[in-house]
Amino acid sequence: LHEIVKSLEGYHDVAKSLILKAGEKIREKVNNDNSVTCKLNAVDLVTEVDKSIEVFLIENLSAYDCECLFLSEETNANNNMYREEKKLTWVIDPLDGTMNFVHSFPRFSISIALCRGTQILIGLVLDVTTDTLYSAIRGQGAFRNGKRISVSTTTCIENSLIAFGFAAKQWEVNSNMSTTIASFIGRARGLRITGSSALDLASVACGELDSFWHYGLAPWDVAAGILLVEEAGGSYSDLYAASNGINLEWIIASNGIVHQSLLDLLRKGM
Ligand code: IPD
Ligand code: CA
Ligand code: CA
Ligand code: CA
Repeated sequence: LHEIVKSLEGYHDVAKSLILKAGEKIREKVNNDNSVTCKLNAVDLVTEVDKSIEVFLIENLSAYDCECLFLSEETNANNNMYREEKKLTWVIDPLDGTMNFVHSFPRFSISIALCRGTQILIGLVLDVTTDTLYSAIRGQGAFRNGKRISVSTTTCIENSLIAFGFAAKQWEVNSNMSTTIASFIGRARGLRITGSSALDLASVACGELDSFWHYGLAPWDVAAGILLVEEAGGSYSDLYAASNGINLEWIIASNGIVHQSLLDLLRKGM
């Protein structure tokens, strides 16, 4: 078992200063004609910025504690050691919303979580465009730029603003989503696809959104955001109400109050 020799606050503060620096670096590159390449398919994009920010974060976090493992989108995507070894693991998405970044659509973020095994201990999400930092340490609440945040008090789907998204990795599955999406039309107050899942979870945490659902995300998309939602008083689960770990086929996050109605609606639409 990885001994936590340094305090959680210590890890949090290091990650906070790095995420803010990384945000600055990304802002310098917006509109800079970044080289874009496709990974699995035409919508699965990566740029030099994704890669260089990931290297920057990993190098500096390793310098603080060289024992930590990494699970990160561009260079350590298949590292499953964290599950068995219960090691401290940094779960990193260096740029969440790469497609938005490529189009200079101003909604993209950096997501950093520290987990022990599958338990999330620290979560940080930076809205890069506005330099807004969402942060949480397990058991200590969730914050936006240092001010405490909490989920909305909306009581029904009819009054809910709901975000969802399409799985880039399983692009073909998305055509089967039409009935699921249709079941919200004429029911929810509003639907949004913003293109940054980490930020959508932060938006649920601070009450801007009442819920968020997505199929086929990876641990680095959701780990930090899940802790924000939990610490802000909300709930998260997969489609069958289980809420274990960070590797979920589906993620449904909400203010908690509308959670069951949301699960019912999603399952009906399958
Ligand atoms: C993407 C974002 C987006 C989601 C996609 C993801 P990336 O992450 O989280 O909101 O709908 O499925 O791939 O690739 O920009 O880090
Ligand atoms: Ca990606
Ligand atoms: Ca992502
Ligand atoms: Ca990414």
